[in-house]
Formats: sequence, structure tokens, C-alpha cells
Amino acid sequence: MIKNRSFYSDFKQKYGPWAVVAGASEGLGAAFAEELARLGVNLVLLARRWNKLNTLADTLKQKYSIDVLFQSVDLADFDATQQYLNSLDVEIGLLVYNAAYAPIDYFKDVADHELDTLVSVNMRTPLRLIKHLSAKMISNKRGGIVIMSSMSGLQGSPKIVSYSASKAFLMILAEGLWSELKPYGIDVVGCCAGAIITPGYQNAQSGSAPGTLRADQVAHQALLALGNGPIVTPGLMNKIARFVMGTLLPKKWAISIMKNNTKNLSR
Ligand SMILES: NC(=O)c1ccc[n+]([C@@H]2O[C@H](COP(=O)([O-])OP(=O)(O)OC[C@H]3O[C@@H](n4cnc5c(N)ncnc54)[C@H](OP(=O)(O)O)[C@@H]3O)[C@@H](O)[C@H]2O)c1
Repeated sequence: MIKNRSFYSDFKQKYGPWAVVAGASEGLGAAFAEELARLGVNLVLLARRWNKLNTLADTLKQKYSIDVLFQSVDLADFDATQQYLNSLDVEIGLLVYNAAYAPIDYFKDVADHELDTLVSVNMRTPLRLIKHLSAKMISNKRGGIVIMSSMSGLQGSPKIVSYSASKAFLMILAEGLWSELKPYGIDVVGCCAGAIITPGYQNAQSGSAPGTLRADQVAHQALLALGNGPIVTPGLMNKIARFVMGTLLPKKWAISIMKNNTKNLSR
């Protein structure tokens, strides 16, 4: 798994002793937690399901001899999230914002409260959390931020239009922050991921798209890209697809291909 020894041996020193993984209870978030634990980084795990967090925390503590704190919190509620983080007396050097809300349906059929949740989980909380945690990183002159985006954010994506628009927002956010925070010693990377085998993906999709990656592969490549940024696309096939969809093809064609890919998605 470990490709770049000097990067990994310096990791904790470079970014600090603790990382927050927002959306950590399963799938990619749990994979990020394990990859960071392997590097000896202590963890603050956030998600709604306490039991899953508890099991993961126990496993990681035993396997990697690190400290793990966790809290059941709804990331749609930034104030509750901030209150918990403020109660901790630890130096947080890394944030992985992994959680997302995806109301899969045609836009006309998505309820107003679902759109509000999407704005909170996919945009408001990442903005506020990054602002909150980066203030300390700026004064410590070190830190890292990984923001999960998606190839669905490269063009309009029918049946997931609000989700894909929020992923485009996160990609542009990562690009801007990558430049602004670099002088303060903070590495930012946006992860423009293709399909990943996770419970969320498997619930929404039958079968798997070409180029589908395991969660641990994506977590590994995203962390390895810290310091390179601004955007990483894990997997060769996905890199090619991103170039074709995002650069080569006329928008109309890219949207049409996406429409074909998303038409069988279900809640
Ligand atoms: N899977 C893919 O194919 C794919 C492709 C491209 C990009 N991505 C991106 O990768 C990230 C992870 O995807 P995934 O498939 O692993 O998602 P997932 O299986 O749905 O898991 C998401 C994680 O976030 C947590 N979470 C979700 N909403 C939350 C909330 N309101 N408050 C607190 N925690 C919350 C979940 O835990 P609880 O339910 O316990 O709260 C879970 O731990 C997302 O940002 C997604 O957009 C995924």
C-alpha cells in the first residue's frame, strides 16, 4: 500500500497529531480513518451512527495504538459540530470532509427539506468547518484539508442535479483554498472521485461502473495528493474520463453521457 516512504514518515509531523474525519462511520470515511491511523495520526471521528463509530474506534485503537475520539453528530447541524470540536483539547492538523447528502431523483420530485439538508451537509458545514479549523492551522503554520468531490460535479448530472452541483461547488472551493492557504503551510486537495465501492454507492446502484475503485484505494491516493493538489482524481480510467468529460467533450455530450449513467440510480 505505502508508495512514498518519506511522505508517509513525515506525515504526522507535517500536518499535526490529530485529524478530523467528517462522515467516518463507514465506506470511504472509514477508509480515510484507517489510512490515517496507519500513519499514526490520532482521530476525531464524526457521523450520526454511534454504534458504527464505536466499533471503528475500538478497532483502530487496538490495531494502530492511536487515540480515537468520536461523536454522534448530524453534520447538517454545524453549531452542534462546532460545539463538540470546541470541547476538545487537541491540535487538529487535518480535516477530511467526506460526508455528503445525495437526494437521487428528478429535481421536480426532490422535497424542499431535502434541498435544505443538501445545502447544509454538502456546502454550509464544509464551509464553516474549514473556516473554523483552518484558523488554528493558520496560526500553527501547518495543516491539511481533503474535500471529497465527485466526477458528477464536472457537468450537469440529471437525476442528481443538486448533488452534482454541490460537488462542483466543493471542487471550486478546494481549488481556491489550495492557493489561498498554501502560504500558511496548509495543503488542500479536492478529490474528484469516480465510482467507489461503498455502502452508499451499492445502495444507489446495481452493478459497478468501469474504473470503480475500493474505498481504501481512494483514501490512499487522496492523502498522497496532499501537497500536490489542487485536485486529484484517483485511478487511471477516472483520470482519462475526467479529461474527456471535463475538457474534450462539448458540454451537451458530457451531460448526455452522464444522463445515461445516472438513469438507473435509485434511492
Ligand atoms: N461512492 C461513490 O461512488 C462516490 C463517488 C464519487 C464521490 N463520492 C463522495 O465520497 C464521499 C463518501 O461517499 P460514500 O459513498 O462513502 O458515502 P456513504 O456510504 O453514504 O457514507 C457517507 C459517510 O458520511 C456520513 N454521513 C452522511 N451524512 C451525514 C450527516 N448528515 N451527518 C453526519 N455524518 C453523515 C455517514 O455516516 P452516518 O450515516 O452514520 O451519519 C457515512 O459515514 C461523499 O462525499 C461522496 O460524494 C462517492
